[in-house]
Amino acid sequence: MCGIVGYIGQEEAAPILLDGLRRLEYRGYDSAGLAIFDPKDGLRVVKSKGRIQALADLTQDGTALKGTMGLGHTRWATHGAPSDLNSHPHMSEDGTFAVVHNGIIENYMEIKEFLQSEGIHFASDTDTEVVAQLMEYYYEGNVLDTVVKVLNRIQGAYALGIVCADCPDRIIAARKDSPLILGCGSGFHLLASDVTAIIKHTREVCYLDDGEIAELTADSFWVYDAYLRPVEKERHHVDWEISAAEKGGYEHFMAKEIIEQPKAFRDTVFPRLQEGRVVLDDLQLTPAYLAAMDKIYIIACGSSYHVGVAAKYTLEKLLRKPVEVTLASEFRYCDPIVTEHTLALVISQSGETIDTLAAMREAKALGARVLAVVNVVGSTIAREADDVLYTWAGPEIAVATTKAYSTQLALVYLIGLYCAERLHTLLPEEYAAIVAELKEIPQKLEQILSNREDIQFFASIYFNHPSIFFIGRNIDYAVGLEGSLKLKEISYIHSEAYAAGELKHGTISLIEPGTLVVALAGCGKLFEKTVSNVVEVKSRGADILGLTTVSRAEELAKTVDHTISVPDTHPLLLPTLEVVPMQLFAYYVALHRGCDIDKPRNLAKSVTVE
Ligand code: M6R
Repeated sequence: MCGIVGYIGQEEAAPILLDGLRRLEYRGYDSAGLAIFDPKDGLRVVKSKGRIQALADLTQDGTALKGTMGLGHTRWATHGAPSDLNSHPHMSEDGTFAVVHNGIIENYMEIKEFLQSEGIHFASDTDTEVVAQLMEYYYEGNVLDTVVKVLNRIQGAYALGIVCADCPDRIIAARKDSPLILGCGSGFHLLASDVTAIIKHTREVCYLDDGEIAELTADSFWVYDAYLRPVEKERHHVDWEISAAEKGGYEHFMAKEIIEQPKAFRDTVFPRLQEGRVVLDDLQLTPAYLAAMDKIYIIACGSSYHVGVAAKYTLEKLLRKPVEVTLASEFRYCDPIVTEHTLALVISQSGETIDTLAAMREAKALGARVLAVVNVVGSTIAREADDVLYTWAGPEIAVATTKAYSTQLALVYLIGLYCAERLHTLLPEEYAAIVAELKEIPQKLEQILSNREDIQFFASIYFNHPSIFFIGRNIDYAVGLEGSLKLKEISYIHSEAYAAGELKHGTISLIEPGTLVVALAGCGKLFEKTVSNVVEVKSRGADILGLTTVSRAEELAKTVDHTISVPDTHPLLLPTLEVVPMQLFAYYVALHRGCDIDKPRNLAKSVTVE
């Protein structure tokens, strides 16, 4: 959840690191710091609570720090409150080592007590500091040997960057369960937790695997296993443009990413539709495998989990196979019923969410075949899955996901059609109708986006409501879950989503005059049922913002206070369209409330701690 960047080369390191940290700020933004080796003054650390700008101000945009090797870090606090002292890099007591870390050292307390009993003094409350102090404790002149000893002593998850004042010509890195990437240039090397931090300088990267240690100098790099045996690494070329990770004139990344959805959907779907058929070259699910498949277990967190909820309705309908959807954080501890005939469908934008990764490994160990739907190319989940399908949404920077959600849904439809064709569960005309509608979605998304003033207007009326409910049935309920998360995540308004029929089993007691209820009533066959539920809350004084399709808008308008409509489409594809007004509503409400939309409080983009 924290961001790491390292540089060793010929140029001044601090400005490069600050620029990298700015690009990583979405990963964590409560404090930041730099460690630079200055040939005159040795290893210098500057760190500060607050955003990267505070660090930039402290260091005059990095120009106050001289040196061509260093590490930077932007933090999302786990152990120890956000403060100057708890910020990374952490130094060993004698100042020989500086360390940045992403992850959690689970046995830090025991190590800290041991080191304190040996007379070592700690400066922070963090788990990370034990790594710096252990480096000093074990150091006998060979940094790599010391790193191995330290890694053998610590438990937990880590991406580590380590520098030593005695060897300023190298940076050491190590990873377990937290991503780290090496960037290779001519006369320089970089280290980063995310490719966005280094893409400006190089497109040639290597992904470190779990248990690996890397040594970077200006001219070369080496990767070793846990016993310091050399490991050959494959280089990858990153082919997206840096502008894809910039705001491009928009006020917020979230606004840009909402607007990019028609393109992202097109990029993800159209190359995979050929002559009216879904072609997924990367997927090797044979008819025999699919016929024997006992169930699909969908595993994900947050918005990706909400895609999973919509996918359950969709895939059960298309495949007539049981689909179970579970939160990744629960999966490992619920003694899941998984066999070698189970397909685990793992959904993750980042491909690094630790709960999802751990659940995926558990599913694999239990014998499931894993199909991952991932956005970040080369991420851990993508590399460890049996099959991977990439959403081609481009980099998503706003913490609140939008285009990743839409493209994950798009892939669910393609997977559904691909499997249905092999299982013969769909009539050819039904298959063709869905494919035809998929081709229409980008243009329908553009239509919704071009009419966003209505939603902006509703947001201006309701932005001060203390609590907002979302109700819907079937896939409308799935979209309601996402609408509610989007709203609370960025506007800090309390919000809950309910299956519309469930409200009267308890929650309706919270409805009072003036409560805003967003009613999703796109699901055609359940329209009347949902309207009945709307009437129930309306008669208790709720204000209703109704969402349905153009063909039912007039009908719904008779019951609700305001109506939003999306173009009609195939019922299974409805979430792709319905979610956009929900995203826009959340965005404009947060804008009215003056919230920090791209970096909501307490959050980070990629959740790499359990
Ligand atoms: O990268 P992932 O898709 O695995 O992330 C899962 C969730 O952390 C993520 O969807 C989160 O809920 C979003 N910030 C919501 O907008």
